[in-house]
Amino acid sequence: MPNNLLIQGPEKGVRLFTLNRPEALNALNTALLGELSAALDDAEADPATRAVVITGSEKAFAAGADINEMAARDLVGILEDPRQAHWQRITRFPKPIIAAINGFALGGGCELAMHADILIAGENARFGQPEINLGIMPGAGGTQRLCRAVGSSLAMQLVLTGEQINAERALQAGLISEICPTELTVERAIKIAEIIATKAPLAVRLAKEAVHKAEDTDLATGLRFERHAFTLLAGTADRAEGLKAFQEKRKPQFKGC
Ligand code: CAA
Repeated sequence: MPNNLLIQGPEKGVRLFTLNRPEALNALNTALLGELSAALDDAEADPATRAVVITGSEKAFAAGADINEMAARDLVGILEDPRQAHWQRITRFPKPIIAAINGFALGGGCELAMHADILIAGENARFGQPEINLGIMPGAGGTQRLCRAVGSSLAMQLVLTGEQINAERALQAGLISEICPTELTVERAIKIAEIIATKAPLAVRLAKEAVHKAEDTDLATGLRFERHAFTLLAGTADRAEGLKAFQEKRKPQFKGC
């Protein structure tokens, strides 16, 4: 059984996925992405899992696509790359994903981090899209998501020069939401996931979808989606429970329905 991904939990509603290819700085080969994809299938099907944290090691979140594997693929191989389906699987995951990023998050590693809904980085984190140094370009969302996260000027600079930015710069640019001491990054990401895990699951799911809509639709469409989602929640038992608990000055007991 391959072990490119370590899976822990769910504990307090949170599963922790640790990328585990230390010999290649967690380079994302097909096997690793396949294991991540399968782990997300399980996490989606499990009602006890309310959020997922993805992390790597202190040295590297992930140093990109596996260059050796990529070198063995020709044009047709890239066109039919099974990794595409795995990337789409991550995009489709309906529960919150928090990335706990230490060390290098480069190329596909930066792209994986940007597939997360919340990005928490350690002080030693380094972000970049160095594909240009290999005569290629980002292919798993790097040009699109980076541009949406940090704006076109910085995205263009990173994509065209292959330069890296540190955690401080990434925070300032809006790529990540928090910086932690490196040894506390995973703990902090888990804490955030645990907080989310206490909320009403349907509200979390629709709120995640609505925030993503802001990135890929015009304002009027996004606002319409938000209103429909908000209205849909009016039919849930958890909404009734949340409002009642407030009025009764107690903690709500959400059931996911
Ligand atoms: N693929 C395969 N192996 C990799 C790798 C990668 N992306 N990144 C690092 N490794 C391997 C190295 O080859 C090395 O293996 P050996 O010990 O067998 O030689 C091991 O990991 C340790 O790496 P280094 O000795 O290079 O470590 P370092 O600390 O000196 O440098 C680094 C770290 C700056 C991240 C450097 O490893 C590096 O530049 N890696 C490549 C980064 C990169 O170009 N990423 C983009 C890949 S393309 C892509 O991502 C496209 C896409 O998704 C669509």
